[in-house]
Amino acid sequence: MFPWEEKGQLKNLAWYLPRPKKNKYKGSMPLYCEEWLILLAEHLWYQKKKFTFPEKKPTILQVFSGVGQFGFRVDIKPECKPDLICDVHELTKHLKQTFDIILADPPYSDKESKELYNTKKLSYKKWYSECDSLLNVGGIFIVYHVVKMPNPDPQRYKTIKRVMILSAPMHKARIALYFQKIRNGVRDVIVSRCQTGFIE
Ligand SMILES: C[S@@+](CC[C@H](N)C(=O)[O-])C[C@H]1O[C@@H](n2cnc3c(N)ncnc32)[C@H](O)[C@@H]1O
Repeated sequence: MFPWEEKGQLKNLAWYLPRPKKNKYKGSMPLYCEEWLILLAEHLWYQKKKFTFPEKKPTILQVFSGVGQFGFRVDIKPECKPDLICDVHELTKHLKQTFDIILADPPYSDKESKELYNTKKLSYKKWYSECDSLLNVGGIFIVYHVVKMPNPDPQRYKTIKRVMILSAPMHKARIALYFQKIRNGVRDVIVSRCQTGFIE
């Protein structure tokens, strides 16, 4: 067996998607990228949950959605026509339902937030924790970025896939990390016990 055929390495994938979408939105994903990222998440979710299609379809939330097309889309910019216009740092103020898959494509730096979108600095800790509150156990959190984003909470999330996306020549590659939520946080447990009337 070659070293790149070992189990750990099988988590890694690379796609070459050179064509841009026609929409010309700043920072939008290459053609097919959004579809493939979600298709892969659905496939992994079915595998892990041991459901068979179409027994149950995973629910999808897309944050920092820009002009993305899939799932329930959240962006701060009304011109993107998302399903919900809000700051992802305040997601749980506006959304109550939970999801099986969350895809996040945030601006890649403070400079980019300001110059491309005229938006405020992001705090990964804060916006991830908002997403975490809305992700079901067993669900998949995908972070698409120019760097390998850290596992937000290794006690409760497992890295199940890494996808490197190559695009046009001289363009930076993107890295999509797939984190699966293994268990709820203490806050979720307290909230769900209060909701069901089960308070110790
Ligand atoms: C890299 S773009 C996403 C592009 C998208 N994946 C696409 O293909 O069109 C980042 C998006 O994050 C949005 N954004 C920036 N800060 C935000 C915030 N605090 N809350 C919600 N959306 C935000 C911007 O308006 C922008 O549409």
